[in-house]
Amino acid sequence: MAAPKVFVTRALPENSLRLIQDFCSTEVWPSETPPSRAEMFTRTRGVEGLLSLLTDAVDAGLIAAAPALKVISNCAVGVDNVDLAAATSRKIPVGNTPDVLTGATADMAFALLLAAARRLVEGVAYVRAGKWRTWNLQLLLGADLEGATLGIIGFGRIGKAVAKRAQGFGLKVLFCDPSAQPEWGATPADLETLLREADFVSLHVPLTSDTAHLINADALGKMKSNAILVNTSRGPIIDHQALYEALRAGRIGAAALDVTEPEPLGVDSPLLQLDNCIVLPHLGSASKRTREQMAMLAAKNLLAGLRGERLPHCVNPEVYDGEG
Ligand code: DGY
Repeated sequence: MAAPKVFVTRALPENSLRLIQDFCSTEVWPSETPPSRAEMFTRTRGVEGLLSLLTDAVDAGLIAAAPALKVISNCAVGVDNVDLAAATSRKIPVGNTPDVLTGATADMAFALLLAAARRLVEGVAYVRAGKWRTWNLQLLLGADLEGATLGIIGFGRIGKAVAKRAQGFGLKVLFCDPSAQPEWGATPADLETLLREADFVSLHVPLTSDTAHLINADALGKMKSNAILVNTSRGPIIDHQALYEALRAGRIGAAALDVTEPEPLGVDSPLLQLDNCIVLPHLGSASKRTREQMAMLAAKNLLAGLRGERLPHCVNPEVYDGEG
């Protein structure tokens, strides 16, 4: 039997790529930047398996143009770049990489929270600019965590891991997620209460049509004037224009963003001119071990789909309805 053809949209760590290559006729996109839409079409047209990253749009048109496609394996927990309805209607299972990145992403949310609260980036810039002359009682004063309130929007795996970390810092935790139960000492709250009461707000919802621009001018207007907003989920959850205006006008205290709209954020973005805004290049899951585990899970999802087996992590399990 001929080896199944697959397209892998970026180089993967060696062991996960080897696993794929041992079983498949594999084309790997050679560049660090994503394939263009035209390249995606050309490379996916004849394949049975596609291993994509969150930067690659796997939309209805692409899926329709790939008649042999049997599995889509997205190397990310978020699958907002994949048209799930189009995949499901073709009975194509879509895999993702949950769990393995929970700790790393929660760590990053906390790193950003602390960095913004204690003004780390401003401090580093101050030293590098040669401005450090003496110890100054009033220099770069930040916010305390102990006794403050953290509001977590979206209480899934990562939101809960953030609440777990918050316990060690003596934060009171509110969470907003109608589908979740209280854990880690966190108290449920509606969105409005959370926004009004939280000193820190951390976003952990997936990007869907319901959550796009969830944090808009209205939501920002409900937050405390010294509140710090942290986003490690997806950029479009926040209306960036509204955020810029709120930060500039001092309607909220600061923002720390690991994700933006668009990605990459252009260097001309006004957000980058603000001292009270930290922006990282989507590094939430970027620890060596986590990225290796994500790639390995993505490889296993891909191979399972090609073999006609259930994916270890499938986001549209309804494709298996009716199977024994
Ligand atoms: C994901 O997997 O969705 C994350 O955003 C990657 O860091």
